[in-house]
Amino acid sequence: MLNDPAASIIRKKSWDDYVLLVLRSPRIARRARPGQFLMVRVSDRPYPLLRRPLSIHARERDTIEIFFTRAGLGTDILAEKKTGDTLDIIGPLGKGFSISRGLHGKTVGLVGGGRGIAPLYFLAKELRAKCVRPRVFYGGKTENDVPLLQKFARLKIGVFVSTDDGSAGFSGFVSAMLEKELDRAAPPAQIYACGPDPMMRRVAEAAAARRIPAQLSLEAVMGCGIGACWGCVKKIRRGETAEWVKICEEGPVFEASEIIWEEK
Ligand SMILES: Cc1cc2nc3c(=O)[nH]c(=O)nc-3n(C[C@H](O)[C@H](O)[C@H](O)COP(=O)(O)OP(=O)(O)OC[C@H]3O[C@@H](n4cnc5c(N)ncnc54)[C@H](O)[C@@H]3O)c2cc1C
Ligand code: FES
Repeated sequence: MLNDPAASIIRKKSWDDYVLLVLRSPRIARRARPGQFLMVRVSDRPYPLLRRPLSIHARERDTIEIFFTRAGLGTDILAEKKTGDTLDIIGPLGKGFSISRGLHGKTVGLVGGGRGIAPLYFLAKELRAKCVRPRVFYGGKTENDVPLLQKFARLKIGVFVSTDDGSAGFSGFVSAMLEKELDRAAPPAQIYACGPDPMMRRVAEAAAARRIPAQLSLEAVMGCGIGACWGCVKKIRRGETAEWVKICEEGPVFEASEIIWEEK
């Protein structure tokens, strides 16, 4: 884990409430793995005090990218940053997605809902570099909620898009689109997903019903991101028992079979 107190913003792109920032931070970039995250200080002022967790969306040799949506005060402040500003970041944090050797040459499914698409771009690139074939299932509420569609398309991988209101692609939830595709084509060797809990629960159920292993990136409200505050604990299945686990340290990525979903 490293602290870069002055990661400079070298590029910014925004679409309505979604923002992409490219940060120059060579040391963090070199250590980053897909599914890991940063804790970002959004302001030099005392409030908001707590850093905000954001996934590492992409990395090149000296740069990392974050992609986020405005969700409240912290991300609103972050969205107003300009090229040339600097951010105080800690990272890379947490345990990310694992890519087993057995996936070489196989097809895997990446399922992202809304802002949950953020870590899947880095993962898609890493999979391709390891000769694994990713297919991306990208869902949003409307066509304005799938701004990274073109970016994924440029990777020249299969991208399926869904919107809840039918304004682009498949009309309905991304989990429904995934299930339709699972019933139509040969099943992927592995599923990776990130998004809101109800979406991930449906993805986990669809994967389990077809005996496809799935790794899910969970969200939790995080006070510190480094295992110190116990603010992020969730119950996780460990063998026959359940344990309270810090999502920031032992996650955010877990096997779907380990996750204990809250009652519906
Ligand atoms: C490991 C991890 C990676 C994440 N990666 C991304 C990412 O790449 N892009 C992105 O847009 N968002 C991501 N998030 C969610 C992001 O951290 C929250 O949206 C952000 O912290 C909200 O801060 P805020 O000050 O804008 O809103 P606040 O005013 O703090 O909160 C606004 C609302 O969001 C809820 N909220 C706050 N923090 C979280 C949280 N961590 N998870 C879920 N709900 C929360 C609050 O309960 C409240 O309802 C990630 C979260 C985690 C835990
Ligand atoms: S966020 Fe503090 S322990 Fe996980």
